[in-house]
Amino acid sequence: MDEKQDLTVAEAMKDVSRRNFIKGVIAGGVAASSATYLFRASSLLGQQPPGLGERLITLNVNGQQRRVDVMKQETLAWTLRYKLGLTGTKLGCDRAECGACTVLLDDVAHYSCSVLTHTVRGRKILTIEGLAHPDGTLHPVQQGIIEEQGFQCAFCMSGFIMSAVGFLKTNPNPTRLEMAHGLSGNLCRCQDYDKILTAMMRGAEHMRKTHHA
Ligand code: FES
Ligand code: FES
Repeated sequence: MDEKQDLTVAEAMKDVSRRNFIKGVIAGGVAASSATYLFRASSLLGQQPPGLGERLITLNVNGQQRRVDVMKQETLAWTLRYKLGLTGTKLGCDRAECGACTVLLDDVAHYSCSVLTHTVRGRKILTIEGLAHPDGTLHPVQQGIIEEQGFQCAFCMSGFIMSAVGFLKTNPNPTRLEMAHGLSGNLCRCQDYDKILTAMMRGAEHMRKTHHA
């Protein structure tokens, strides 16, 4: 084999291993998440067959009355994502550490992974899906993010947005430092904090201009 052929083979090998690597990451990610959810499912069900121990309740989600069967130990994050199909609420740590699952309950930000669904009957639940106006106009905080391109992978984004919206309801004109404190319960694995803060400050500015509640 001459030097040129050697190089061609080496290039081909590089290409194959790169493709295998990407395939591995995707397959690994999928396998890991499925395993997590299967684990959560079995621990939530407590080894009971699905359906057992569930109770039909009504929740006020994004201004709509939603009837749903829930288990007594079921978390709001679980109900929103896997019973109501509202997957904009993300599950990161599932243990009140990252803020990815943040939603508003009566206008106050909460980690939905740490709230039992049956305890929020009669409360007003707002998720990222209910934030934009029904005519499609984005919420000012969402608009701020688009203008500043504040996130990288955006896994943490809906949690940050819901926290910011909750925070701005009580402090509509924060300094950058106050906003950082207000969002300190949310983590970003991409460490994009500076851009996120800039985007949220832009959103706050839009909220003040539009007198958005
Ligand atoms: S998923 Fe709820 S705080 Fe991390
Ligand atoms: S932008 Fe990736 S986790 Fe925050």
